[in-house]
Formats: sequence, structure tokens, C-alpha cells
Amino acid sequence: MVKKGLVLSLIVGVFFALTTTIVLAAGYNDPLQYNNDALYPQGPHGGYTTSTNKCKECHAVHLATGMYRLTRADSASQACDFCHSETSGLATKKISLNVNGHGIDTSTPDPVVAPDDTTPTPYSVPAANWGCDKCHSVHNNSVVKLADELTTKLLKADPNPGKTYFYYNPSLIDTSTRSTPQKLAAWCSACHNANIGSHKTSKQAINASGLTITAYGHDTSETSTSLDANGFATSVGPDDAVNNGPNCKQCHPADGGSSFPHKSTAPNMLMSAINSTKSNLDATCINCHNTTSMP
Ligand code: HEC
Ligand code: HEC
Ligand code: HEC
Ligand code: HEC
Ligand code: HEC
Ligand code: HEC
Repeated sequence: MVKKGLVLSLIVGVFFALTTTIVLAAGYNDPLQYNNDALYPQGPHGGYTTSTNKCKECHAVHLATGMYRLTRADSASQACDFCHSETSGLATKKISLNVNGHGIDTSTPDPVVAPDDTTPTPYSVPAANWGCDKCHSVHNNSVVKLADELTTKLLKADPNPGKTYFYYNPSLIDTSTRSTPQKLAAWCSACHNANIGSHKTSKQAINASGLTITAYGHDTSETSTSLDANGFATSVGPDDAVNNGPNCKQCHPADGGSSFPHKSTAPNMLMSAINSTKSNLDATCINCHNTTSMP
């Protein structure tokens, strides 16, 4: 009896495996055969050779289930969901964008504009086109490996094409290794050009009323600023001509669930743990500045 049951379930198992293979083979590959392991740390992204079979992880030549570029999706904004969605994704790294991070809400004016870019030509794209592919290259092409990242993270080397960058410099990228001495904060400034550098450096930026103004900003650097045991900044010296300012992530941790810089529970991706909102922004400042030792 036990043996019969075993054989039966074996047959059913083999039949099921066969049908699944047949069904999948018609459209896509068995997803995640190129998994997040030592051999394929970047999954099906890039590394295409004559002996790999990655294209069909995402594209079906015939019988695609979505109308966007033969993927399973109907639009660019959904193209990553099958594997990376926080609710249904199959990959290890689950990502979604929200309005306090890099997502947009339905009331966002068309086009989407990057806040704090410099003039002329601040970053702008049609709202329907804004999404993952603006920062990432799904095929891992023309990417950059930033100095503080272990891999490329598929980050585009030139995320704001046509822009004369204020600080970020794609020409420093070694074309064979894709490495650059610049760090993530420098890359962020490609779309938010006004937000990096010393507080004495002027930039031409657009303010909330749409007017072009000469602006200065809080010292911001590529390197994380050192903090003491209480979290206070140890290197506040505005007159020493050295920019020891924090990097973007120290003030914008985007600690909202999926990783930085995608999602946040606090406006402007500020420190949600201490509940920095537009009405208690001081919470962010006094996190680093010891009010008792200020002049
Ligand atoms: C991880 C998923 C994935 C894999 C694997 C993948 N693609 Fe793509 N591909 C996409 C997505 C998503 C787009 C849409 C482009 C975008 O959103 O940036 C795309 C776009 C394309 C395009 C259109 C390019 C254009 O100019 O618009 C071609 C052609 C293409 N892929 C071919 C391939 C080939 C060939 C392979 C294998 C060597 C492959 N892709 C592997 C996801 C993938
Ligand atoms: C504004 C630019 C931007 C957008 C838009 C964006 N990302 Fe990212 N993404 C990044 C950066 C920067 C990193 C690296 C963060 C780090 O290393 O701290 C990253 C990292 C990742 C990682 C690796 C996470 C890890 O734990 O290693 C995945 C996966 C990812 N993004 C997927 C997505 C998906 C899917 C979308 C769309 C839903 C998306 N990203 C939209 C900038 C972006
Ligand atoms: C068929 C499944 C699949 C699709 C579709 C897919 N990915 Fe991935 N992706 C993976 C796997 C698997 C990994 C390896 C890490 C993991 O398991 O999460 C990965 C890793 C990544 C990483 C991390 C790379 C690194 O250097 O650490 C990024 C960024 C990323 N994907 C972005 C995207 C974006 C953006 C899209 C849509 C345009 C997308 N992926 C679509 C399967 C997929
Ligand atoms: C010292 C802390 C600090 C650092 C460092 C910092 N920011 Fe900010 N940022 C803030 C605060 C606080 C706000 C909210 C400002 C306000 O409401 O006026 C903000 C707002 C923003 C906004 C939204 C502006 C708007 O109009 O909606 C963007 C975009 C931004 N920062 C990007 C960056 C980038 C990119 C970096 C790194 C190059 C960076 N920030 C570094 C503190 C910082
Ligand atoms: C490809 C261009 C691009 C890059 C690169 C980019 N951003 Fe943004 N960023 C945008 C756009 C567009 C918006 C506005 C989205 C919206 O309207 O909700 C935005 C919004 C923001 C905001 C305001 C969020 C809010 O609450 O409205 C902050 C803070 C920010 N970015 C920080 C960063 C940081 C930090 C990085 C680097 C990890 C980065 N950005 C990289 C385009 C970019
Ligand atoms: C992550 C830590 C951090 C946070 C958060 C922070 N600061 Fe700073 N701030 C610094 C450091 C470090 C310096 C000194 C940079 C230098 O001297 O090179 C500095 C310098 C300053 C200066 C002197 C001018 C300059 O840019 O050097 C002012 C004014 C200032 N901060 C105000 C603020 C205000 C207002 C907030 C809240 C919106 C804030 N800071 C949030 C770390 C921080």
C-alpha cells in the first residue's frame, strides 16, 4: 500500500514537473534558474554568453503574457514586479517605490521633475515613464561600480543624459572594469545637482515657486561624516574650508521597509525613526548637532 502510494505520487510528481516544464518552455524559462548565488550574484542581469539561457527568464519570443517588450508586464513601471515585487516577487531582493521615496502618487504633475536639480534643463520625464529603469540598466550595460558599492547594482553610469553634471563625473569610470573612485552620493547628485558640495559653493537652482535662484546648501559630501557615541557630528568646522558634511544617506536613510533609496515612511526620505516631518524637522538637525554646544 505504502509503496503503491509512493509510486503514484512519484508518477504524479514527474507528470507535474513535465507539464510545468512544457508550459514554461512555451513562453518563459523556469524563473530564477539564475539565482542569487555565488555564481550568479546578479541573477539574470547581464553576463550573456553562448552557453547561458537568460533572455527567456524575462522575455518570451512567442506567447508573451504582457505587451511591454515581450516581458510579463504591460508597462515599464511593472517590468520588475514578477521578480522584485514586495508582495509577490520571486527574487530575494524585494523592492517597491513609495511617494516618500522614489515613487510618485497619482496627483504628481506630469512630467515628473527631480527636486533640487540645477538649471538649465532640470531632470524631467513623463510621469508614465518614471520607474526602476531610470536608475537601473536591466541588462547591466553602461553601468558604474561606485567606490562604496560591492557590485554595480545595475546603476546607470549616466542616469540624467544630456546634463552637464555639477559634481558627478562619468568620465572617471574605467571602461573595462566599470569602476569609479566616486561614491553613491556623487551618483545621487546626477539628478539632484544642487545638493552636493560645500555651503560656500553657489548653484543656480529652481525654488518651490518655479523661480531660478542662486542657492547654497548644507555641506554634503561623498564620505560619511564621523559621529560620536551619542550620534553627534564630530567635525563641525564651517570656517576650516574643508567639507566634512554628511553623505545623502546619513540624512535621508529611507528606512521604510525595502532598501534605500526606494521607500520611506517619512517625507523626503528623512529619519522616520525619530519622526522627522515638515513640522518637526528639528528632529533631523539635533540628531547630529548638539544644541548645547552650538554658539
Ligand atoms: C531580468 C530581465 C531581463 C533579461 C534577463 C533580459 N531582458 Fe531584455 N529587457 C528587459 C526589460 C525590462 C526591458 C525594457 C527596457 C527597460 O525597461 O529598461 C528589456 C528590453 C529589451 C530590448 C529592447 C531594447 C530597446 O532598445 O528598447 C531588447 C532587444 C532586449 N531586451 C533583448 C534581450 C536579450 C537578447 C536578452 C538576453 C541576452 C535580454 N533582453 C535579457 C528585461 C530583461
Ligand atoms: C532613484 C534611483 C532608483 C530607482 C528609481 C530605483 N532604484 Fe533600485 N537602487 C538604487 C540605488 C542607488 C541602489 C543601491 C543602494 C545601496 O547600495 O545602498 C539600488 C539598489 C537596488 C537593488 C539591490 C538591493 C540590495 O539589497 O542589494 C535592487 C534589487 C533594486 N534596486 C531594484 C529596484 C527596483 C525593482 C526598482 C523599481 C521598483 C528600483 N530599484 C528603482 C536606485 C534606484
Ligand atoms: C526573472 C526575474 C527577474 C526580473 C524580471 C528582474 N530581476 Fe532583478 N534580479 C533577479 C535576481 C534573481 C537577482 C539576484 C538577487 C536576488 O535574488 O534578488 C536580481 C538582482 C537585481 C539587482 C541587484 C544587482 C546587484 O548588483 O546586486 C537589481 C538592482 C535588479 N535586480 C533590478 C531589476 C530591475 C530594475 C528589474 C526590472 C527592469 C529587474 N531587476 C527585473 C531577477 C529578476
Ligand atoms: C544635513 C542633512 C542632509 C544631507 C547631507 C542631504 N540632505 Fe537632502 N534634505 C535634507 C532635509 C532636512 C530636507 C528637507 C528640506 C526642507 O524641507 O526644506 C532635504 C530635502 C531633499 C530633497 C527634496 C527637496 C524638495 O524640494 O522636495 C532632495 C531631492 C534631497 N534632499 C536630496 C539630497 C541628496 C541627493 C543628497 C546628497 C547629495 C542630500 N539630499 C543630502 C537634509 C539633507
Ligand atoms: C534618475 C534621476 C534620479 C536619481 C539618480 C536620484 N533621484 Fe532622487 N528623485 C528623482 C525624482 C524624479 C524625484 C521626484 C519623485 C516624485 O516626484 O515623487 C526624486 C525625489 C527625491 C527625494 C524627495 C523624496 C520625496 O519625499 O519627495 C529625495 C530625498 C531624493 N530624491 C534623494 C535621492 C538620493 C539620496 C539619491 C541617490 C541614492 C537619488 N535621489 C537619486 C530623481 C532621481
Ligand atoms: C548627519 C549629521 C547631520 C545632520 C542630520 C545635520 N547636520 Fe548640519 N552639519 C553636519 C556636519 C558634519 C557639519 C560640518 C561640516 C563641515 O564643517 O565641514 C554641519 C554643518 C552645519 C552648518 C554650518 C554650515 C555648513 O554647512 O557647514 C549648519 C548651519 C548646519 N549644519 C545646520 C543644520 C541644520 C539646520 C540641520 C537640520 C535640517 C542639520 N544641520 C542637520 C552634520 C549634520
